[in-house]
Amino acid sequence: MSVITESTPAGRLAGRLVARLGEGLPAHALSTDPEALAAHAHDAAPFSEHGRPAVVVHPETAEQVQHVLRTAYELEVPVVPQGARTGLAGAANAEDGCVVLSTTRMDRILEIDPANRLVRCEPGVVTRELDRAVAEYGLTYPPDPASWAVCTIGGNIATGAGGICCVKYGVTADYVLGLDVVLPDGRRMRTGRDTVKGVAGYDLTRLLVGSEGTLAVVVGATLALRPARPPALAMLAQFGTLPAAGEAVAAVTAAGHLPSALELLDRTTTRAVAGLGHPLLNGDRAATLIVESDAADPAADLAAMAALCRAAGAVELTVAADPDQSRRVIEARRMVTPGLQAMVARLPGEPTAFIEDVAVPRTRLAELVGLIEGIARHHDLTIATLGHAGDGNLHPTVLFDRTDPDATRRARVAYDDIMAAALALGGTSTGEHGIGTLKRDWLARELDPVALELQRGLKRLFDPKNLLNPGKVVIA
Ligand code: LAC
Ligand code: ZN
Repeated sequence: MSVITESTPAGRLAGRLVARLGEGLPAHALSTDPEALAAHAHDAAPFSEHGRPAVVVHPETAEQVQHVLRTAYELEVPVVPQGARTGLAGAANAEDGCVVLSTTRMDRILEIDPANRLVRCEPGVVTRELDRAVAEYGLTYPPDPASWAVCTIGGNIATGAGGICCVKYGVTADYVLGLDVVLPDGRRMRTGRDTVKGVAGYDLTRLLVGSEGTLAVVVGATLALRPARPPALAMLAQFGTLPAAGEAVAAVTAAGHLPSALELLDRTTTRAVAGLGHPLLNGDRAATLIVESDAADPAADLAAMAALCRAAGAVELTVAADPDQSRRVIEARRMVTPGLQAMVARLPGEPTAFIEDVAVPRTRLAELVGLIEGIARHHDLTIATLGHAGDGNLHPTVLFDRTDPDATRRARVAYDDIMAAALALGGTSTGEHGIGTLKRDWLARELDPVALELQRGLKRLFDPKNLLNPGKVVIA
């Protein structure tokens, strides 16, 4: 490991960088404390490479963000934007010697406009807090990533985050009307519109959503809202086999239902959630579907979907009687990550949950589930398959001890096999977590080569010096 001190060239650059940054930032917005540097070195993706930042900055205004980017541009130092670091693809991972630019302290809701059904906010607003704030006006901001209690709007925009109710209400990209961003050289730019409709020029807003902080830093967003969702009812359908649950999902979609959640938990995941003491779940079943409806008559809608689940082989159906019980059913889905973490913590060594994020056309979901079962068997691994079945978006999660070199090798190969399976079924290597550093090679396999070259060109256009989150998504 190389040691960077003030007498090395890297150390001298870091010293100059920190001094220059300090000219436009309050002292409390800048840290070189080793603990802070380590805490901001990476997001929540295992196995993705990361370096050690020279400095972490927490600007509080757009002008301070401009100062940071201008300074880094001049000194030719990379900048890595970060939100809550809940990302799962390494897109927020630090480079050696970079500036980590955290937008978490820019957390003001600037305006809620009920008449135009929109909200303007800064990037550091926590997703669930935004929804709570607009709820006071009888409105909702639907995208609900699993981490919504801690993740931020800026991070959601950067990754193009999805969530649980997206099967009915769409993903982050569907709600971003306009953006206020700072480009790598420090110029500030507004994109988009406040109107419901708008087709003036190329859609830079949509380009920036999901660009993983490689093109610009978001300092403000205008987001569309919807009227508050009607009361929902939910049910748990449990199955004797995983493919039977896959068939039920296909049947629900084919029959034209529009559930507001259609989530799948396989045997391992079901056991993990039951292990945390969820009262409504039978922990011994091979698969569980969590289905929610907020249709005009949710009880009738659920009854029809229950019948389809039964026809597909459901052995147990627990239909919630009221909204409170329904919330408990949905809670089972939110307990998946803590449940798997608790389960994996019981493994010896350094237990790891390596989470995938593939998506296939809905009609191919059951096939994907079967292929994943085969991959787990072939590599002798425990793979917990869960996810947004209604979207065809699954998170097969490999549970293993990373101090076991052979298990680690098998986990990596299985991870690739799962992506290959999804692509072979006409799907994508990432439904909602993004490319980051983890899936760069897979992007090249997935995209049309001409489209990939155009994407590289866009990166060069926005970031000619390749300083903003370099090495993520595409290599320019
Ligand atoms: C979820 C996250 C991992 O759906 O996307 O739980
Ligand atoms: Zn998810």
